[in-house]
Amino acid sequence: MVNIVIFGPPGAGKGTQSQLIIDKYKLMHLSTGDILRGEMASETALGLEAKKLIEKGELVPDDIVIKMVRSKIENNLDKKGFIFDGFPRTTRQAEVLDKLLEENNTSISVMISLEVEEEELVKRLLKRAEEEGRADDSIEVIRNRIKVYNEVTSRVCNYYEKTNRYKPIDGTGTIEEIFGRICNVLDEHI
Ligand code: AP5
Ligand code: MG
Repeated sequence: MVNIVIFGPPGAGKGTQSQLIIDKYKLMHLSTGDILRGEMASETALGLEAKKLIEKGELVPDDIVIKMVRSKIENNLDKKGFIFDGFPRTTRQAEVLDKLLEENNTSISVMISLEVEEEELVKRLLKRAEEEGRADDSIEVIRNRIKVYNEVTSRVCNYYEKTNRYKPIDGTGTIEEIFGRICNVLDEHI
């Protein structure tokens, strides 16, 4: 298996670039945000619990997301590999992900971190709010999501840097330009 993490603040383009990566490299997409929104839409107990936090822009507890990821990995061990999008978001999640993959004789090859300035993120997410109406794309919640990213999630970079798997990439420009930069990194690993 070849597994990669696509990382970055809200609106950095993780979901957009994941779609292009999946098409080219045939990896399986694992987005914890998408799974949580699915649970919210189906109004499961987990979804209702998560909704309160997501609508404020706060993180869902580690144990909940880790359980979701574990089950997704265990049910897809026959796949070519995973692209983790929006996970890990805490150092604990990153440590557990390494353990989970190791138990299955595989690992994360590289973590691609999309770098985009805050005002560009806000601009993209407000545009998406008009187009798609995602519940957490209001200006107050966007600002809090970015704050949580800066205060908690951004530290995950250090974890991957220590093990030589951290690859920062300029996340600005056209979608195709950014994808080209990502392919240059992935072609060394896949
Ligand atoms: P999640 O769904 O992961 O959201 P996020 O990290 O806030 O990021 P987004 O999905 O908003 O942005 P993206 O980077 O995917 O960008 P996109 O490609 O869509 O998480 C949501 C919530 O769930 C969290 O706040 C948390 O509560 C909870 N959660 C999820 N995972 C968790 C975890 N592991 N632990 C705890 N809690 C968790 O692009 C954004 C927009 O910009 C789009 O409209 C796109 O078309 C546009 N765009 C993309 N690229 C470009 C470009 N180059 N130029 C111009 N526009 C562009
Ligand atoms: Mg996304």
